[in-house]
Amino acid sequence: MIRLSGIEKSFGNKRVLRGISMTVETGRIFAVMGPSGSGKSTLLRCVNFLERPTRGAIEAGGRTIDANTATSRDILFLRNRTAMVFQQFNLFQNLTVTGNVMLGLTDVKKMNRRVAREESLRLLDRVGLSDKADYYPSQLSGGQQQRVGIARALAMKPDVLLLDEPTSALDPELIEDVLRCIINVAADVNSMIIVTHELGFAREAANTIVFIDDGVVIEETEAQAFFRSPSSERAECFLKNSLRRHINPSETPLERAI
Ligand SMILES: Nc1ncnc2c1ncn2[C@@H]1O[C@H](COP(=O)(O)OP(=O)(O)OP(=O)(O)O)[C@@H](O)[C@H]1O
Ligand SMILES: [Mg+2]
Repeated sequence: MIRLSGIEKSFGNKRVLRGISMTVETGRIFAVMGPSGSGKSTLLRCVNFLERPTRGAIEAGGRTIDANTATSRDILFLRNRTAMVFQQFNLFQNLTVTGNVMLGLTDVKKMNRRVAREESLRLLDRVGLSDKADYYPSQLSGGQQQRVGIARALAMKPDVLLLDEPTSALDPELIEDVLRCIINVAADVNSMIIVTHELGFAREAANTIVFIDDGVVIEETEAQAFFRSPSSERAECFLKNSLRRHINPSETPLERAI
């Protein structure tokens, strides 16, 4: 479980998050949606203090960590309970796939190298990459690199897995593989907060949709209900625009199928 209470974040005098609260219970998947610039990435980065919130508190692992008083130990405590999957993968290019997955286990969790390697190979198998264990990131497709990123995050056994638009840097034909992989591993994860523009995926994978605009939660709605009929006009408008972009009405049926 992770609970965000009144998270605010300003950059200079620009207020990007204006008091965001949500509780992601164990076993739940939250999808965060909203227009570009609404603060979605900033919110995820605040959860593990990659950005220190200006105000607010985060409760995880039985501790409440307040932005105003958080010590470096508190931040470490929080980071040990979260793991992030980045849009641009952020793999170490000089390490093999296995090396990337092992790193957190040996360096953060202080696991013995042999055990860490076994665990990494198990996770690589879980994301369908056991045959790529000794490859370097540059020898993999974007979709495969992202699946390494997912294995690396899973290795930390986080209370909450954070994913920031994990497929938006990928070619269209690779997106589906990564989304399937996320759905497959979801059962292994305690809870997940995923920022995504993939409507079909959010509908299938998420329990709850949090719709954010201008640094405020506009609505938090059960996923099926959100896509059937969002309760706010802003979310409805956002969904209509997103769908319009997916299905251009001026296209012929053949173009649409392509
Ligand atoms: N380090 C920073 N310094 C100053 N402003 C920032 C910083 N990071 C983000 N911002 C601003 O905060 C706002 C929210 O940015 P954020 O990246 O969280 O949006 P987003 O919802 O993730 O957008 P997108 O969908 O395009 O990824 C933007 O106006 C952005 O310019
Ligand atoms: Mg973003």
